[in-house]
Amino acid sequence: MYDKSNPETIQKMFASIAKRYDRTNAVLSLGLHRFWNRALVRRVVSDKIDNWLDLCSGTGDIAFEYLSCAGSQKKATLIDFCPEMLACAKDKAGKLLRWHTISFVQADVQNLPLENQSASVATMAYGIRNVKNTQQCFHEVYRVLRPGGMFGILELTQPTNPFIRWAHGIYLKRILPLLGKCLTDNREAYSYLCNSIQNFTPPADLEQMLLKAGFARTTIHPLTFGTATILIGYKA
Ligand SMILES: C[S@@+](CC[C@H](N)C(=O)[O-])C[C@H]1O[C@@H](n2cnc3c(N)ncnc32)[C@H](O)[C@@H]1O
Repeated sequence: MYDKSNPETIQKMFASIAKRYDRTNAVLSLGLHRFWNRALVRRVVSDKIDNWLDLCSGTGDIAFEYLSCAGSQKKATLIDFCPEMLACAKDKAGKLLRWHTISFVQADVQNLPLENQSASVATMAYGIRNVKNTQQCFHEVYRVLRPGGMFGILELTQPTNPFIRWAHGIYLKRILPLLGKCLTDNREAYSYLCNSIQNFTPPADLEQMLLKAGFARTTIHPLTFGTATILIGYKA
């Protein structure tokens, strides 16, 4: 039903869960997503950032995490192809809009409507797994980053320890779709989530793809036994 080779189905899936996305996310990650999101922001934040690009921004948690700790007059651009998710982000932005310049852009991350070298940092949390052509997306991010820029990816991954991987598999296959159904009435969306985590490219292969896109070096940071991973690409 939901298939990333047909991006319209992914767009529709996020539209159908947009209003309940944040609450469901908090329950399904057992609250860990806050810690993971903060870890991502801390890895790439600096006081030299002129434009923070949050790709697959959804309801805006990553960009807002950055803006709420940054001084005033900062700039962030949120990009997502699902208007319903962006609408939730706009509703949540609240007071941050008074202090900062925030743009909400509906676009596909495989074809960014941005000038070359126009951002110093790009982040993408829980998004790349859903993108049809990962390599094309990495080329685009590389193009829009300034020299010295950083691309921080946060993604749900599979633990390497066999026992933890087994327990994690049971959680993903049996518990997560049931909880997803109770919270959003869309069991399919959460079966898709399970399959997309288990079938996605492992971090070491993503690293190779970042290097192929032009990034000079990369680092990998597993979180919570490898159930999530941060990957950073550095542009020379
Ligand atoms: C799991 S949500 C993550 C949202 C947010 N980053 C967070 O931290 O909660 C994935 C988001 O990626 C967006 N998305 C998926 N594929 C996309 C694409 N090709 N271009 C733009 N947005 C995309 C979806 O609309 C959805 O809002």
